[in-house]
Amino acid sequence: MLNATSMNLNLKTTHMTKYSLTLFVSIIFFSACIVGKKVSAQSIPSLKETFKNDFLIGAAINAEQIEEKDTAADVLIKQQFNAVTPENIMKAEIIHPAWNTYSFDLADKLVAFAQQNDMKVNAHNLIWHSQLPAFMRNMQSADSVRQYFEHHITTVASRYDGKVYSWDVVNEALNEDGTLRNSIFLQKLGPDYIVEAFRLAQKASPHSKLYYNDYNIEQPKKRAGAIELIKKIQAAGVRIDGVGIQGHWRAGNVPLNDIEESIKEFSALGIEVMFTELDLGVLPNPWDNATADVSATSKGDSTMNPYANGLPDSVEQIQAKAYADLFKLFLKYKNTVSRVTFWGVNDGQSWLNDWPIHGRTNYPLLFDRNFQPKPAFNSVISTASNQQ
Ligand code: XIL
Repeated sequence: MLNATSMNLNLKTTHMTKYSLTLFVSIIFFSACIVGKKVSAQSIPSLKETFKNDFLIGAAINAEQIEEKDTAADVLIKQQFNAVTPENIMKAEIIHPAWNTYSFDLADKLVAFAQQNDMKVNAHNLIWHSQLPAFMRNMQSADSVRQYFEHHITTVASRYDGKVYSWDVVNEALNEDGTLRNSIFLQKLGPDYIVEAFRLAQKASPHSKLYYNDYNIEQPKKRAGAIELIKKIQAAGVRIDGVGIQGHWRAGNVPLNDIEESIKEFSALGIEVMFTELDLGVLPNPWDNATADVSATSKGDSTMNPYANGLPDSVEQIQAKAYADLFKLFLKYKNTVSRVTFWGVNDGQSWLNDWPIHGRTNYPLLFDRNFQPKPAFNSVISTASNQQ
């Protein structure tokens, strides 16, 4: 017979046992999750390892990622990439918000982050017509623009001399027909401003590489303009180390022949060739001609956003093939192509969800919204000869 005390004890024991059992099961479950997570993080190949004898593999990273607040992205960034480009935080409007005010906090953090994780920083960018600080956007006086130009390049480039691997010194200076874009810099400083930008950058940052970066410069006319520009810089005795082809293309429409021709023609100038902002969007384009001009925005109805509830397999396969074809080409020219950088980490973080039409659901990168590798990731990995 059980008396009250032993019953009480028995109840307690049962309670205890249940409690311990629950605890035990929870511990096992959570450990399995942690191990599972680790295993899944480790079990996918690493892009940077896979292509380590070929070219650098980069990603554009945002402020949250630089500060390591995006923990899931953090795992992938460290595992997959050996180069980083700040998506926004080194652009003039952020790093130089007022005449005598520079805001270096995040750029300093980026440099420290890259150093700790053995990554090369491509600093983006020094001179660009877009994302300019409000105080100089509509500047009328040529003298003031010149002051801004010299001060900005000298101050920013010298602070990070040798701390960043490279600079996009001038970004997007060309029109589609290869002529110079009618930017505030062209208007106020004249056509030599590009050579001058490189000259100033060379002086301020002798230990970092200097690049020209643009979109659509794989296209014949714009490419010819870029070649002319690069030759002009070289003829002036000013250093230019490479050219960045941005690579904002559409998955079903990658201009492979133009890209191959560009790699050949740019490398014939004795400079590195890079793919600096790669993403292969899958959504309809509101215009007939391709552009990556950030100021060219459009409105769209739901027909312009067909995959809001998920990407069909067929489209996913088209994208996977397009990425594989591109990487095969990059590998063919691995002695010339020095870096391939994706413009973002996962699909949900891509600028193409909001450009050129705001609020769409695009799928341009190798990792999905849950940071899982997509078929395009596997197809890229499978192009490599030294697969991990
Ligand atoms: C984009 C960023 O991804 C966006 O977050 C920002 O709102 C606009 O600029 N070409 C470039 C990049 O050189 O700097 C642009 O980045 C994309 C097009």
